[in-house]
Amino acid sequence: MSTSTEGAEPPRWLRPAVDPEVAAGLSGAFRDRFGRSPDGLWAAPGRVNLIGEHTDYNGGYALPLALPHRTYAAVRRRDDGRLRLASLQAREGWEGSVDSVAAGRPQGWAAYVAGVAHVLAERVGPGQVGLDVLVDGHVPLGAGLSSSAALSCSVAVALRDLVPGLVDLPVEELVAACVRAENEVAGAATGGMDQTVSLRAVDEHLLLLDARDFTVVPVAWTLPGHELLVVDTRAHHSLADGQYAARRTTCERAAAALGVGSLRELDPARLQDADVRRVLADVPDGMARVRHVVTENDRVLDLVGALREQDAARAGALMTASHASLRDDYEVSCRELDLAVDAALGAGALGARMTGGGFGGSAVALVARDEVGRVAQQVVSAFAAEGLAAPHVLEASPSRPAGRVVTDTPG
Ligand code: GLA
Repeated sequence: MSTSTEGAEPPRWLRPAVDPEVAAGLSGAFRDRFGRSPDGLWAAPGRVNLIGEHTDYNGGYALPLALPHRTYAAVRRRDDGRLRLASLQAREGWEGSVDSVAAGRPQGWAAYVAGVAHVLAERVGPGQVGLDVLVDGHVPLGAGLSSSAALSCSVAVALRDLVPGLVDLPVEELVAACVRAENEVAGAATGGMDQTVSLRAVDEHLLLLDARDFTVVPVAWTLPGHELLVVDTRAHHSLADGQYAARRTTCERAAAALGVGSLRELDPARLQDADVRRVLADVPDGMARVRHVVTENDRVLDLVGALREQDAARAGALMTASHASLRDDYEVSCRELDLAVDAALGAGALGARMTGGGFGGSAVALVARDEVGRVAQQVVSAFAAEGLAAPHVLEASPSRPAGRVVTDTPG
């Protein structure tokens, strides 16, 4: 591998899949595997979070957008309460009854699909939610871009459309079912931002999420001369690892010690109070973690203001401040994420930060449109210069929510 910045390979761009192409291949593969045609195809997007990280499980604010990159599911309903699950990306599938799904069973990717059926069975009975499913994922895996939420949400919308007792289910309930599937069956204590944006996104908008009550407000993308460049560092990322849960536990302990229901309720001005400092001194890492959450909530609202005023420089500065807080106070960054952020900023990005849970995964940078190619190349070159595997890059334009895929291709 080259160590000179000039010698790096050109960036590898991850483009979204094209619906009719996926549809043709996936319907045929479904017939080959299950011997019958699917009832239809559904798809759900991954997400990138512009700002507001590790705030959702603290009742705070986040500002995610749906990616044009989606996970597709060809689905056929069964009437015997059984699940037969397969994926074009995984060698292992899973078969079993809806009734047999429980915490930790099945494991791996199938938990996100079986978990949704299991939770929705509480409403309509297990006999209603049997399914044959073939998944085709086009959200990069393990990249911090919510491939797991895209998976569960693609099947959730299929169930809503196929099962008579679920057709009127409000989208908030569908979100809650996907969150429970991830928390209770897959065993990842995530906070709900990912499922919310995958199911409730509005095309060409970001979604201001208020996780106190899970209300959302669409926020228009008002920086037309700018793009969001996402860098998938390809460093390991798994939310089932203990660090995410550890951060969440620290926040809950800090909130309890401070006597507030969630950290959202703590006024940023109180961070300086002697009594707050004294209370948090008894919670290991409490002060730094709380400082991140409280200041991050403010940054989200500031960034919404910056978008309304079309102030790209201010939006970028807030993103970069968010990264510093996640790196120094919340300690969820890593060498590859810091490098991606620093290289993007060094190449002229207006702002950059890690996005998602951290410990690997992706960074997002705000870049003037005609600079995108150059910034991407400089980031790839910086990785090559450090002897790291080449990151992948993608452009994130705010896209539509999960739903049925309608193409002219015969099913
Ligand atoms: C992951 C979780 C989300 C959220 C982010 C951090 O993506 O799934 O619920 O907590 O990490 O902001």
